[in-house]
Amino acid sequence: MDTLIIQGGHPLNGNIRISGAKNSALKLMAAALLTDEPVELQNMPNLADSRFMARLLSSLGVDVYWPQNESTCRLNAADISSTIAPYDLVRKMRATFNVLGPLLARIGHATVSLPGGCAIGARPVNFHLEAFQAMGADIVIEQGYVKAAAIRGLKGAIIDLPFPSVGATEHTMMAATLANGTTQINNAAQEPEIVDIATMLRAMGAKIEGAGTSCITIEGVDKLNGVNHAVMPDRIEAGTYAMAVAAAGGDVLLENAPAKEMTSLIEHLRHAGVTVTVENDGVRVMRNGSRLKAVDVDVQPHPGFATDLQAQFMALMTTADGVSTITENIFENRFLHAPELNRFGADIRVQGKTATVHGVDKLVGAPVMATDLRASVSLVIAGLVAEGETVVNRIYHLDRGFEKLEEKLNACGASVTRGSE
Ligand code: UD1
Repeated sequence: MDTLIIQGGHPLNGNIRISGAKNSALKLMAAALLTDEPVELQNMPNLADSRFMARLLSSLGVDVYWPQNESTCRLNAADISSTIAPYDLVRKMRATFNVLGPLLARIGHATVSLPGGCAIGARPVNFHLEAFQAMGADIVIEQGYVKAAAIRGLKGAIIDLPFPSVGATEHTMMAATLANGTTQINNAAQEPEIVDIATMLRAMGAKIEGAGTSCITIEGVDKLNGVNHAVMPDRIEAGTYAMAVAAAGGDVLLENAPAKEMTSLIEHLRHAGVTVTVENDGVRVMRNGSRLKAVDVDVQPHPGFATDLQAQFMALMTTADGVSTITENIFENRFLHAPELNRFGADIRVQGKTATVHGVDKLVGAPVMATDLRASVSLVIAGLVAEGETVVNRIYHLDRGFEKLEEKLNACGASVTRGSE
């Protein structure tokens, strides 16, 4: 199994180009099932997760053309040969569950394994299923599979989400594009990826209003057409590198970083004493030698502080001056990185949904274990700051979500190499 070996203590200087957003790309790929015409996605991130979604789509009969290391992916779902998404192709990654809605909307039935994903909490799919039931689908769960049917098609409905779930909002919005009548999603999530998906769906002929607000209205159409769409830049990747620079010190331009979608993080970084400037071609992050100040974080749905940046911010706070309180309000078990960060000499105490980080003078390199995607990269950030050598084990989590991580960091002066256990 691969490991990452990091020699800490090098500041980061230079440019890092931000890739396409994983969380958007995976859903855009699933949306290709909604049309029998070609869908071309540009700025696609080459990641284990997006490659995995391509495999799942192929298994359903989608013609996928995506050569290795290329950022353009062509999908053609003219002939869907299967509506069954098997356990082996769904268990590794939750976003694969998003093929259910498009299959149901276009073909009228689908059988999809219940999803897997990160170990950060229960992550049920009840909101997704309740939405499809409200739209007239018959749903049974048998032997770990969701069997859904809407033989006469889905029909528009009013969906009141109990929580602004990103996945349920996206999934319902996609399926509603081909439903009979109008669907209204109340208490919708407002994440920028939802806007990206709505933009592509509209270019395919869908009628969607309000994406990016808490109320989305979708008027169903009979058919969607093909499209060329460029995936939005990854605000989570950009935010992660912003925190790596803030932690290690230096001056890096994050090319293509979507500043408008990163306002909460940028504010927190500035409060901590990091210089962040928004430039024409991205976001510049600078920190000289002075010590960071402790800042509290209250994780909330967008536009609040993103849960996908919480672990990285915690790593940043480990050496700040003072005490920082970090409250996680989205997932119930998203502090798995705290004990790992303590192995570097950090002082983090977790109680319920709050972690209290007492800033220490320095971190010292250690062997650590990656537990989930975003937690893994928080360990890399700690390793960049720590004195001496850090070995991060189980880095397959990192490969799920960060394209060319070592290459991007090393180009800015870091020392990160891949080894094996
Ligand atoms: C997406 C992102 C993930 C991010 C999360 C929150 C992708 C591939 N993943 O995950 O990186 O951390 O948004 O910003 O885009 N819930 C239910 N029932 C449901 C659905 C959700 O109870 O049917 C709960 C979840 O357990 C969680 C909360 O709602 O506590 C938010 O989850 P959700 O917004 O749905 O996250 P995902 O879409 O899975």
